[in-house]
Amino acid sequence: MSITNEFELAGIKKASEAVACTLKEMTAFARPGISTKELDEFGAKILADFGEKSAPFLTYGFPGHTCISVNKEFCHGIPSQKRILKEGDLVNIDVSAELDGFWSDNGNSFVLGPDIHGHQDLVNASKEILQKAILAIKGGIRISDVGHLIEMEAKKRGYKVIKNLTGHGVGRSLHEEPGEIANYRDKYNRTRFKKNSVVAIETFISTDSTYADTLSDGWTMVGNRGGFMAQHEHTIVVTENEPLILTEINGVWD
Ligand code: CO
Ligand code: CO
Repeated sequence: MSITNEFELAGIKKASEAVACTLKEMTAFARPGISTKELDEFGAKILADFGEKSAPFLTYGFPGHTCISVNKEFCHGIPSQKRILKEGDLVNIDVSAELDGFWSDNGNSFVLGPDIHGHQDLVNASKEILQKAILAIKGGIRISDVGHLIEMEAKKRGYKVIKNLTGHGVGRSLHEEPGEIANYRDKYNRTRFKKNSVVAIETFISTDSTYADTLSDGWTMVGNRGGFMAQHEHTIVVTENEPLILTEINGVWD
């Protein structure tokens, strides 16, 4: 969406603070021994308290309120009673929701407890790259230039990017124009970021894979060459200067 008045700005701010708060509380609640279903239900309660409705459920009929992906699962993981979190797991929680007609999206990858499997480096790289990418965005900047920056920053740290997962416009629905904010220089994408537009910027930084494939459950995505992936996502408003980061309180950069 493009923000044209104070009412719209207030609406998207409120929806964003609620998803950010939910993500932060879910991240804090995650601990070894609980199932991803319990974690999802904890998040669902917070969303409901804010009056928010799960965006993937509303939009796609996703079988859960939030996406929770663990280790080899890259994204769109289905909350399950059978999936018990363990110390050292690489966990990704993605929370997107709708409130009063405004839609916002954010995500966080983190290591659960002590980093016994050595995922923290990947997590830190993704967080830093998201920050660099967001700081590079303003009205008139080419989307493909920001994609290039993300890929170069990943390479510099010895990582790859996933080419078929992207950021996107958001605000009046979960996925809007611009439809694809890729993590590499897409030379066919000549679109530029527009001032006052609301976009979800997300990293997809990986150790081995460059594409994500969907498993037979129809949702969960894994890497085409295995390995691990970290994703961090903020919903922002593009301005003439630094973007306004609507989901900043989610704690991804704390
Ligand atoms: Co998104
Ligand atoms: Co998301």
